[in-house]
Amino acid sequence: MTAASAGTAFHGKAPAPMKATARALRIAAGAIKRGGTVVFPTETVYGLGADALNPRAVARIFEIKRRPRFDPLIVHVSSVSQAGSIARLTPEARALMARFWPGPLTLVLPKKKPVPGIVTSGLDTVALRMPAHPVALALIKAAGTPIAAPSANRFGRLSPTTAAHASAQLKDGPDAVLDGGRARIGVESTVLALRGGTFTILRHGGLPQEEIEKVTGPLSERLGGRARPISPGQLSSHYAPSAALVLLRAKKPRLRKGLRYGYLAFSEMTGLPVKTCAVLSPSRDLEEAAANLFSHLHDLDAAGVDVILAEPVPGRGLGRAIMDRLRRAARGRGRK
Ligand code: TXA
Ligand code: MG
Repeated sequence: MTAASAGTAFHGKAPAPMKATARALRIAAGAIKRGGTVVFPTETVYGLGADALNPRAVARIFEIKRRPRFDPLIVHVSSVSQAGSIARLTPEARALMARFWPGPLTLVLPKKKPVPGIVTSGLDTVALRMPAHPVALALIKAAGTPIAAPSANRFGRLSPTTAAHASAQLKDGPDAVLDGGRARIGVESTVLALRGGTFTILRHGGLPQEEIEKVTGPLSERLGGRARPISPGQLSSHYAPSAALVLLRAKKPRLRKGLRYGYLAFSEMTGLPVKTCAVLSPSRDLEEAAANLFSHLHDLDAAGVDVILAEPVPGRGLGRAIMDRLRRAARGRGRK
């Protein structure tokens, strides 16, 4: 991209990723200030960001992602005081921020006036997080405004853990793509709602429930699947690759003739006659597995298989977020 194209909505293809140098950050921050959109790295996944206080800029995010509805977005801040300018911070919220920010914890809090309705879908709450990535923090500071950003993927598709994943999916804009290397955590943030002194997990993610419970005590969950999702990350079919994904129950599934299979293993290559196999973590480390999850699914998709067979992982720590993403991907029908 060139400086001249920043901030103008152009169509056709995403700009090439720019290494996140000081100059690239200036260009990207300029685009945000002018109401443009920017793909930027965070420690969880890449985000597609716009000025959270500019409703037209935020509307572009929905267009570029092809989100069919206006779902509430996470607002990214670079300090607790910036968070306090857009949400009411209770003592409980401050304690969680002090312990886990910057990091993969999103807090849903009562919103203050300046947050436009398009960011919160008209809710009286706003989701906030301070990302633990130097490029994300530098971008928010240089733009001088909180940045609303969903994951930088087309709606319902795999989340991007590299700048290349994001550019490949977002063909109609954004104005700039900042490359900050591979996302370290690899699954989205944990979303926690605070209301009247109670804490509710709305989405499992990069901060394990057990870590939060050390501060809050036992947490309740309100995850998706039921009547009306209160959080779109709760839509039952989401995070889906193009191939159909089957979450394995049996050790030796029956393969159908004529179909090309990919295999997502937890720790060991499979002996099944599949076209390609990817291993999440040879040492059975759930953090490593989470970091590899979306990139391995991207790779299996790129290998052109019809069906991806995925092994379950242990449902503790980051395993909860991994199993959540695999279950939702399995409910997608695939696009082949
Ligand atoms: O790690 C992440 O969270 C990434 C990076 C870019 O920060 N972002 C991300 O955003 O995953 P997105 O839009 O894909 O997911 C936002 C989640 C959704 O599940 C949404 O429903 C929930 O946060 N959310 C946002 N505002 C909310 C609110 N006011 N009440 C309840 N849920 C909310
Ligand atoms: Mg997302």
